Amino acid sequence: MSGPPGAMGPTGDWEQLYATSEVSSLPWYTTALDADIERALQEHDLRGRRILDLGTGPATQAMNLAKRGFDVLATDISPSAIKKAKASAKSAGLSIEFRVDNVLASKLAPNLVDAIVDRGVFHVLPEDKRPVYVRTVHRVLRPNGWLFLKCFSDKEPGTWGPHRIAETELRGYFRGTFEVRSVVETVFYGNVKPPPKALFATFQRGESVRPTRPTQNRERKRSTRS
Ligand SMILES: C[S@@+](CC[C@H](N)C(=O)[O-])C[C@H]1O[C@@H](n2cnc3c(N)ncnc32)[C@H](O)[C@@H]1O
Repeated sequence: MSGPPGAMGPTGDWEQLYATSEVSSLPWYTTALDADIERALQEHDLRGRRILDLGTGPATQAMNLAKRGFDVLATDISPSAIKKAKASAKSAGLSIEFRVDNVLASKLAPNLVDAIVDRGVFHVLPEDKRPVYVRTVHRVLRPNGWLFLKCFSDKEPGTWGPHRIAETELRGYFRGTFEVRSVVETVFYGNVKPPPKALFATFQRGESVRPTRPTQNRERKRSTRS
């Protein structure tokens, strides 16, 4: 896979990357809070609530959320990412709870947070692991909690970087487990120019909706073919 310095494939070694890179050089790095995430949090009036920044990486999203008064938990699979993120938050004087956690084998407790922000994790997971992700985020969210997810869209040309995901495919993974509130076309701002084409999805966990694994997989296969 070729691309800008710091480019990662979906199956790349995250720990190796964060141990050896300046985080500001990574393709997804931006100091700003993602505009789609900010809009969604305002729209659903989640001010001051408990929020998980899943796959926090450089923790720029987590730090911006903490600055806006959210009670932030931030996780990443890479211990080096978390170590660097803790140092950044400390030097910014921000109080954020950081944990090393793999979303595919998560140790996070059930009903932990009111909202989850995923900017760039779902699209790096192998296809066969995505249902595991869906079950985990469903478990970690409180009833009626929100998942805000940004991923590369299938409209982004080329093969560099993460998986491209079509809207119908994305909806298929979550339908039956979550209420799919919206999926909109957008871009993924960071160090890559022009910014790659992306999707921003808003999912809501129901009061008592249960994950329905087999249906979900069948729906995904159907929508991928259409
Ligand atoms: C594209 S980066 C995005 C980082 C951050 N969300 C941001 O917007 O700057 C994807 C992140 O997901 C993390 N990641 C990859 N696989 C993961 C997993 N299975 N569990 C938790 N984090 C994971 C990586 O270490 C990396 O920090």
